Amino acid sequence: MIPEVHVAGDPAAQGIRVPFVRPALPPVEAVRPAIDEIVRTGRLTKGPYVERFEKAVAERLGVRHAVAVSSCTVGLMLVYRGLDLAAGSCRSRRGIAEACPVAAMEPLSRFGVARSGSRSEPLGEVIIPSFTFLAAPAAIAWNNLRPVFIEVDPRTTNVSPQAVKAAISPRTVAIAACHNFGNPCDIPALEAIAVEHGLPLVIDAAHGFGASVHGRPVGAGGTAQVFSLSPTKLLVAGEGGIVATDCDCLAHFVRLGREYGNDGSYDALFPGVNGRMPEMSAALALASLEILDQVSARRNELAGLYREELSQLPGIGFVEIAAGARSSHKDFSITIDPTRFGMSRDALRRALAARGIETRAYYDPPCHRQTAFEHFHDRMRPLPQTEMLASRSLALPMGGHVNEAVVADVCETIANAKHLD
Ligand SMILES: Cc1ncc(COP(=O)(O)O)c(C=O)c1O
Repeated sequence: MIPEVHVAGDPAAQGIRVPFVRPALPPVEAVRPAIDEIVRTGRLTKGPYVERFEKAVAERLGVRHAVAVSSCTVGLMLVYRGLDLAAGSCRSRRGIAEACPVAAMEPLSRFGVARSGSRSEPLGEVIIPSFTFLAAPAAIAWNNLRPVFIEVDPRTTNVSPQAVKAAISPRTVAIAACHNFGNPCDIPALEAIAVEHGLPLVIDAAHGFGASVHGRPVGAGGTAQVFSLSPTKLLVAGEGGIVATDCDCLAHFVRLGREYGNDGSYDALFPGVNGRMPEMSAALALASLEILDQVSARRNELAGLYREELSQLPGIGFVEIAAGARSSHKDFSITIDPTRFGMSRDALRRALAARGIETRAYYDPPCHRQTAFEHFHDRMRPLPQTEMLASRSLALPMGGHVNEAVVADVCETIANAKHLD
């Protein structure tokens, strides 16, 4: 039996009528026995709950490995670091090489950079959409790689395969994509480009739990897909991430990397981090996994309602989801055409805020205009679609607290916003 979803927090106490997001959590009773056991045994980390969670996720996604980490950001950082070393180890281990997608790829060292060499010059370029969350280029830059920002397809908000193709250069070492707002990106098209050019494909699947393509959960395909389990996601651990991959050596690298690079011998094989997921988080995530399909179905129902009501208004655009695909609707993001709608996204946002309705302007500013990343951006390469989306996108309240009445309230407020501003 599917347990009830528990909505955490008391928005009224914070003076907000409709909060942007509230986590949809399993009921306390579903988690309590695990918490009791963890406290009783004192096994707070590296225990059976993480193992159980990894196994359950790998089965669900249909991948060889699901490695639990402390966040999606740490997962992405370790994956980019591991691609080099994993490629090296694949070559020396023929048994694994045949099954390993990384084995066919060149390591970063083909660019003449010794692994232990100078870190002042970037090792290579990673092609990545600018219209994405700042953690993704951060993971690239942390590895002394250079993010090369490209366009998304404004209809889907996901990276445009044509733009990827056009950006590939002799310096390219990887392709990065994202299932933006939970809308599955076009993995077959991206994989075809990656394979043609012998490049790894890293998918930021932070919004991916709850999304599927032809009934199969997203997570397989590409070199690795990296999920987030933070409170705004459909599957919640508190904080946490999952690295899903079919590559034995990349999974091995991430397991070592989350453990300081220590394989147990107390001789660090490379500089790692503490990227472990605590047992408490894994226990919550296991219970959250039980209600994931229910949470995703509900979000899709509510997204359908939003769409139905708002499509009657001029100048509102919706994210296009491919036939056979299902978005997790981690966010329900619309676009506002200021001329046709009659007011700008920012003015609408202010009008909603004045009525106690919280929204978010994802992703504004886009990554190529953020302080940490703007120096990477080639100003001769304008990104008009990205700029347009960044100035027009508005994510509406979505989460465990949203129901039919909330959707009606938000839509009515949007419809009347011009009179309210
Ligand atoms: C698209 C995207 N990528 C990466 C992240 C980072 O995830 P985490 O907070 O688990 O590190 C987020 C966080 O929301 C995100 O939205």
